[in-house]
Amino acid sequence: MSEINLLDRLPVTKRDPKARALAKTPEDRALAKQFGRDFFDGERRHGYGGYRYDGRWLPVARRIVEHYQLPADARILDVGAAKGFLMHDFLQVLPGATVRGLDVSAYAKANAHAGMGSLIDLGSADALPYADKSFDLVVSINSIHNLPLAACKQALREMERVSRAHKFVTIDAWRNEEEHQRLLDWILTAETYMSVDDWLKLFAEIGYTGDAWWFIP
Ligand SMILES: C[S@@+](CC[C@H](N)C(=O)[O-])C[C@H]1O[C@@H](n2cnc3c(N)ncnc32)[C@H](O)[C@@H]1O
Repeated sequence: MSEINLLDRLPVTKRDPKARALAKTPEDRALAKQFGRDFFDGERRHGYGGYRYDGRWLPVARRIVEHYQLPADARILDVGAAKGFLMHDFLQVLPGATVRGLDVSAYAKANAHAGMGSLIDLGSADALPYADKSFDLVVSINSIHNLPLAACKQALREMERVSRAHKFVTIDAWRNEEEHQRLLDWILTAETYMSVDDWLKLFAEIGYTGDAWWFIP
């Protein structure tokens, strides 16, 4: 596997982990973890504070398609697809592709972007309802760290199982104590987060052979 930042074309988001650490309550976290309206389109202290399509994923979709040299008729799965923004943009780049998303959020599916809802399956990342080796690329961005450790490992195994070629995951991590503290201050919904070294050991332990990048606020 490679550590590679395939999200390097996203605009930089300003975050203030210290301010969030001071403000967030167990109730805020519990509400966020329902992944409903409050998480996506409620107040910032409960999640995104308004999760709207603005085209920012299009350069990312292009970057990923180019990096993996996906064919025009590629089959692509987004695990933790939310409202389908990246799915939509994969289809802009590769109109002949088959794109599927999976998410636990009925709210996100019901409020998905531009018809993507019909391409999103409701379910959990640790039990993907797809056949072995049925996708050329499986991506999961900032999603599987929301599962507890055993289920998170299973989610990585599932990505491995349903992909016949490429896998790319982005997850909460840190490389030093300062980044560790920023992450602890920032997280609302994550259950499984560890140092980059520990993630790499975990990948080896469970046989995840895909690529990875790290969410460090
Ligand atoms: C931080 S959002 C990331 C959304 C999108 N991938 C992005 O990067 O904009 C986390 C997503 O993971 C989804 N999620 C949480 N638990 C999940 C699970 N067990 N299985 C699948 N998706 C899950 C949430 O509903 C939400 O859409």
